[in-house]
Amino acid sequence: MVRTSARMAKIKPLFFAGLETRIAKMEAEGRDVIRLDVGSPDLPPAEFIIDALNESARLPESHGYQSHKGPLALREAWAEMYERVYQVGLNPGTEILPLLGSKEGIFHLMLAYVQPGDVVLVPDPCYITYDRATIVAGGDIVKLPLTVESNFLPVFEMLSPEILRRSKVLWINYPNNPTTAVAPIAFFEEVVAFAHRNNVLLCHDAAYTQVTFNVENAPSILEISGAKEIAVEFNSLSKSHNMAGWRSGALVGNPEVVRELYRLKTNVDSGHFLPVIEASVKALTGDQSWIRARNDIYRQRGDVVLSFLHEMGLAANRPHATIYVWSPIPEGWNCADFVQSALEGTGVSMTPGTVFGLNGEGYVRISLTVSSDRLRTAMERLKGWIQK
Ligand SMILES: Cc1ncc(COP(=O)(O)O)c(C=O)c1O
Repeated sequence: MVRTSARMAKIKPLFFAGLETRIAKMEAEGRDVIRLDVGSPDLPPAEFIIDALNESARLPESHGYQSHKGPLALREAWAEMYERVYQVGLNPGTEILPLLGSKEGIFHLMLAYVQPGDVVLVPDPCYITYDRATIVAGGDIVKLPLTVESNFLPVFEMLSPEILRRSKVLWINYPNNPTTAVAPIAFFEEVVAFAHRNNVLLCHDAAYTQVTFNVENAPSILEISGAKEIAVEFNSLSKSHNMAGWRSGALVGNPEVVRELYRLKTNVDSGHFLPVIEASVKALTGDQSWIRARNDIYRQRGDVVLSFLHEMGLAANRPHATIYVWSPIPEGWNCADFVQSALEGTGVSMTPGTVFGLNGEGYVRISLTVSSDRLRTAMERLKGWIQK
């Protein structure tokens, strides 16, 4: 058989791909598995969004290729949302590029900007696509530990002048997956200044900025003066509007970066399905009150998980955003063994912290993407198992 490229030797399958096979086997054996591992919203988007998709799909003219940049109406809808939510002005002609979900944009941006010899600064733990894309692009990853002591914010003082000289891209993500931390605006100011000082492309992953509770909306990096000169932001309807399967996101910010990613992507994909575009416009510009109600559901689910974790003696922080709880595990375990044994012993599936980087050791990520009743069942099973 023909050999795969040398590049493929550096790529591992995603943890969740292997997990799916294991869970399918357990379910085939009759086990009731509660999946608190992946971060896929269980609730649907508002009905008016689904109606827009349906209406558009029925029209004969909806089925062709669309512009690679997405129609102006979609870019204007992203601009309208940025103005309304963050008071950030964006030029729909030059500063917005629709994406097929933010993951592909994150991955392709690394291909557009990173080559062997370049350093990419990546938080640890983090959403693992920053790592994987850097590896495929041939860059070197330098990890910025996120610790309880630093409120899960990276500390730049640890970086040597040599690393800073080679650094090309810096990734940040707040509200943060997996730690759930929300960054104060002062940190965003600090990070924009750092990016200017060191001439690095600052990439802010804003997937969870509208999934907040107990706090107001989390900020956009573009709220910081001078950010647009050095920064871009990845946004997505996946979590903000319960539209993960629809694959609708956007890159916004620095016009040169938007143009370069556009250039690459014209060679890679052929844009969205028009009904998805039209529904995305409605999602971004229509009634947003349902999002507050949805966020309240995540808050209630978080409270259920937190009260059980505290009964188990696990000092997890109450999340203020995202769809996760980031919990320490009982002493004496490593997180991979803990998660594996918990899955076998209880049928509750969680994500080991090390899936997000070595610094995630000692933690698990629990997704709040099942009902409160189901979460209660999961946590009762875990509590019984831990206390055995
Ligand atoms: C931090 C973060 N960024 C990006 C993504 C990708 O989201 P999507 O590709 O669905 O927009 C996710 C998905 O879980 C995420 O957690």
